[in-house]
Amino acid sequence: MELPGPHERRSIVVLGSTGSVGTQALDVIERDPGRFRVAGLVAGGGRVDLLAAQVERFRPDVVAVADERAVPALRRAIGPVPILAGPEGVAEVAARPCDIVLNGITGAIGLTSTLAALRAGRVLALANKESLIIGGPLVKRLARPGQILPVDSEHSALAQCLWAAGPSGYDPSAVRRLIVTASGGPFRGRARADMTEVTPEQALRHPTWDMGPVITLNSATLVNKGLEVIEANLLFDIPFDRIVVVVHPQSMIHSMVEFVDGSTIAQASPPDMRLPISLTLGWPSRVPGAARAVDWTTAHTWTFEPLDDEAFPSVALARHVGSQGGTAPAVYNAANEVCLEAFLGGRLPFTGIVDTIAAVVGEHSVSPAGSVAEVLDADAWARARARELTAAAPPR
Ligand SMILES: NC(=O)c1ccc[n+]([C@@H]2O[C@H](COP(=O)([O-])OP(=O)(O)OC[C@H]3O[C@@H](n4cnc5c(N)ncnc54)[C@H](OP(=O)(O)O)[C@@H]3O)[C@@H](O)[C@H]2O)c1
Repeated sequence: MELPGPHERRSIVVLGSTGSVGTQALDVIERDPGRFRVAGLVAGGGRVDLLAAQVERFRPDVVAVADERAVPALRRAIGPVPILAGPEGVAEVAARPCDIVLNGITGAIGLTSTLAALRAGRVLALANKESLIIGGPLVKRLARPGQILPVDSEHSALAQCLWAAGPSGYDPSAVRRLIVTASGGPFRGRARADMTEVTPEQALRHPTWDMGPVITLNSATLVNKGLEVIEANLLFDIPFDRIVVVVHPQSMIHSMVEFVDGSTIAQASPPDMRLPISLTLGWPSRVPGAARAVDWTTAHTWTFEPLDDEAFPSVALARHVGSQGGTAPAVYNAANEVCLEAFLGGRLPFTGIVDTIAAVVGEHSVSPAGSVAEVLDADAWARARARELTAAAPPR
């Protein structure tokens, strides 16, 4: 698990290479070929042309696609590079010898890869927050200190603030509160009653970040912020009542840590995922020029406001399931994934997403999430129940 130093070359496996995080990770890697090389690429199989172009450009040792039907077209496009396929192929590449595995897969499906990478002893650059959230106790039991490096900009910011706090390293007793910032999404300032008619097109338009569709929709409902609160609790061992969400529409401060002496340290940079991604790949060193810095020569105003829990009940619900622990976060996440599909398919109004998650969570009997099977069972139950509820929901 020892990472090569800043002057040695690191080999990186990129899972979800064709996605928003994956392509930006490859951008960081490509800019510094003396420092990084690609050992493996993994994607779902939906964008074969892009994956083939990445193979051509980065010459990985191996490539995998989750959807086996993508293999023939990929084979024709990339020639002799080994191709693995299906969930087993994806997990095999996640466990391959390399220095860092970046998990940029979307959704609960990323859990197997997270566990495979951790079991194999790889340092895990974690964008796929869902795997940590749903597999909480399992992932935490498996991960050694420092083995998971957060890619999420908020958690990268928190790690940087904690790291900046002192030479003796992370001291939880010096932390009063974690302050997680939220842009507020495209519907900030609206009352809940004014969001019933929201269309997928409107929900997919994020004001400050350009991201994949699932996280963009989750930013509109603020489910993403709820997931991030659980992620912060799991990563930094700070209880939920000391994790605060603050709306900061400019997305320049990515989170803050308030210390017991009244000092607050914030991390600021224009919204660009290449910064937190590069910090995981170069960890603990910074990658020069990874992203633009704040322009302090021009005037700007940054604002902060409390979260409207009535308009966006998803964060309070996430705190509730996070405090319950066990299989509860997996149920929250799985119900959400199904509700997003229903919303995109016109079967559920926008506000029905969180209402349905709450209904599914309310019906679930929480168990400890002591095994992968237990987590996957809870995930499958929540999906089935959310499908039933959304099939019965009145159309938009
Ligand atoms: N985007 C951001 O700025 C951002 C910021 C913070 C955190 N995150 C987190 O990072 C993760 C990725 O988000 P994203 O926005 O990059 O998503 P995305 O753009 O939708 O990309 C998802 C990637 O996963 C691949 N994939 C889908 N199913 C797969 C499977 N079964 N096995 C292996 N790969 C599979 C996709 O391949 P195909 O192209 O073949 O479908 C694609 O490469 C999410 O957990 C998200 O919450 C993202």
